[in-house]
Amino acid sequence: MLANRPKTKILVDGGDPSETLRMKSLIGFVDGQTTNPSLIAKNPEIQRLIASGHRLSSQEEKDEYKKIVQSISPLVGDAGVSIEVFADVGTRAEEMVAQGQEMFSWIPNAYVKYPCTHEGLRAAQMSVHKSIRVNMTLCFSQEQAAAVYAATQGSKEPVYVSPFVGRLDDRGEEGMDLVRNIKKMYERGDGHVHVLAASIRNVNQLLCSFALGAELATVPTKVLDEWAATSFPMPDQDFRYQGADASGQLLKSIPYKALDLNLPWESFDIAHELTTKGIQKFVADFQSTLRRSA
Ligand code: E4P
Repeated sequence: MLANRPKTKILVDGGDPSETLRMKSLIGFVDGQTTNPSLIAKNPEIQRLIASGHRLSSQEEKDEYKKIVQSISPLVGDAGVSIEVFADVGTRAEEMVAQGQEMFSWIPNAYVKYPCTHEGLRAAQMSVHKSIRVNMTLCFSQEQAAAVYAATQGSKEPVYVSPFVGRLDDRGEEGMDLVRNIKKMYERGDGHVHVLAASIRNVNQLLCSFALGAELATVPTKVLDEWAATSFPMPDQDFRYQGADASGQLLKSIPYKALDLNLPWESFDIAHELTTKGIQKFVADFQSTLRRSA
């Protein structure tokens, strides 16, 4: 078990309640959990249904998702359980909020995940006015994080923004730089947005998230297992992080930009190819579990 709890809250990145329970015994606590449509599609019960030839209706898929988060909810601490709305590139904010409102009622500690798109940001702005906690996902740029800050100003609850480290690494960019840059930019803010390091692929990235002071990190169980197997190392004063691709090639650093957090959120250039691709992948994984007519 972990003796000294890091300041960074630790969330399990997954869709299987039994794994959350296992992590809780391994680490001694779990602060929260993030889910997404791809992780829910991999849930063992859903996979069993599919293997037996059963495809789910949209309602059944939603019921399964609800059941999964209701099992996870009591296992985690105050970082809550993030539940992602089913949105494709054309989904309007009003539709996302309708889903978000329903998902928020499933459990007492829900965070609703919206994508860092124009409609996702509009949905977030509407949601915080309704006191719905939000986690802005598929964040790949500092501009998107600035827009999240501006769109959710005045939120009474902490808002999460989830920079996706591993997916930037996958295309040769230093994903941890994005976390560093957002943290630096938010130093000039009011602290209402918390940085949740996501798409973490290895223990070093977890340690770097601690070193950068990310408020939260969501971590796949495979990485938490590795961290536990090496007796929970922590970054010391000399900790230096350097990412590399699969062939050992160094990653391209992402430069810091001086952005004004007080500008209207619509003024930031939030388009990012990886956000679009991420939405498309979530839709494809979600649909792989559904009946054609669902
Ligand atoms: C969590 O909120 C994210 O959906 C998750 O970390 C994405 O991880 P991946 O890039 O490994 O799919």
